[in-house]
Amino acid sequence: MSASRSHKIAVVGGDGIGPEVTAEALKVLDVISSKHDLSFETVTYPFGTDHWLATGGEQGGELFPDSAFAEVEGMDAVLLGAIGDPRAPIGLVEHGVIMRMRLGLDLFVNLRPVKLYDPRLCPLKDKTTADIDMVFVRENTEDAYTAQPSFENKGTPDEVASQPMRYTRKGTERVMRYAFDLCRKRNKSNTLLMIDKANAVRAQDLWTRTFEEVGAEYDDIKRDHAYIDAACMWMLKNPEWFDVAVTTNLFGDIITDIGAMLQGGLGIAASGNIHPGRLSLFEPIHGSAPKYKGKNVANPVAAIMAVAMMLDHLDYGHVSAEIETAVSTLLQNGTIKSLSAGVQSTSEIGDLVANAVAS
Ligand code: IPM
Ligand code: MG
Repeated sequence: MSASRSHKIAVVGGDGIGPEVTAEALKVLDVISSKHDLSFETVTYPFGTDHWLATGGEQGGELFPDSAFAEVEGMDAVLLGAIGDPRAPIGLVEHGVIMRMRLGLDLFVNLRPVKLYDPRLCPLKDKTTADIDMVFVRENTEDAYTAQPSFENKGTPDEVASQPMRYTRKGTERVMRYAFDLCRKRNKSNTLLMIDKANAVRAQDLWTRTFEEVGAEYDDIKRDHAYIDAACMWMLKNPEWFDVAVTTNLFGDIITDIGAMLQGGLGIAASGNIHPGRLSLFEPIHGSAPKYKGKNVANPVAAIMAVAMMLDHLDYGHVSAEIETAVSTLLQNGTIKSLSAGVQSTSEIGDLVANAVAS
């Protein structure tokens, strides 16, 4: 078998437990790539709160310098650990690192699969693995997330703060097309659920209309709709109703945390920030959990699943599936005892998965 071309991966471990869980994910990548004769070259970047503080913090600390950004743009994928640390002002590093890449690399799809590997991991009673198997397609470049905040009369009793929920036709249409295509490819219910709050946020009439118009081109895919409040309720009541759902940036952020809990918690949920056919970014959904930093207690499964998603995006679906099978088997037979922090060490779980994929 001839060696395939080498892929260049930017690794941003980030804050808190990010670097530790990323190291375990890379351990698994290393083992599986030698097994399949794949070659990955990793370039590690230090960006995150420690780096911002070390380079001056409030006095001009560095978030993501343009030179590094230009390097990353030439790579094949980004693996991100976690961002967020109370030592920095709220949102500064999140915007400087994660949002910088989501927007700067135009990663307009945030793909968040929710899959239960063992019924014991689900907080709902009587749910089977078949009941919890869905994918969220979260729009990733618009909404209030990327509008300018404004504060009038700041600090006075007459203060008014706003940050509009802004949607473009092009931005809405491209993410919906991705979701319709994904729904067709999954070929499960062949129904795409669109989630919005157009009854209250009338600007989302654009979502209503675009869904109808784009959907008319997919006559093999049925269209379903739910308001975000009801969708949250159904996620807990009837998760088996969900297959592929498309939603806005803000609602997608919120409902996928519910999704993560259904599959066993933030210890397993991974996500892809994707521009189809181009450089994309993969990360665990969990945050940086600063209290666990450096203690070797965080669970690295979500970061490992992010590597599986990355491999799938790079067209190594069979290799990705091997990681998924290994994780699923280790959870089912109790070798990985828990998805919570502190039950087994970070490195122990990394070793377990690495050994499982090696064989
Ligand atoms: C996520 C996170 C981010 C988001 C934060 C860290 C900005 O919650 O990726 O889900 O809201 O998108
Ligand atoms: Mg979130």
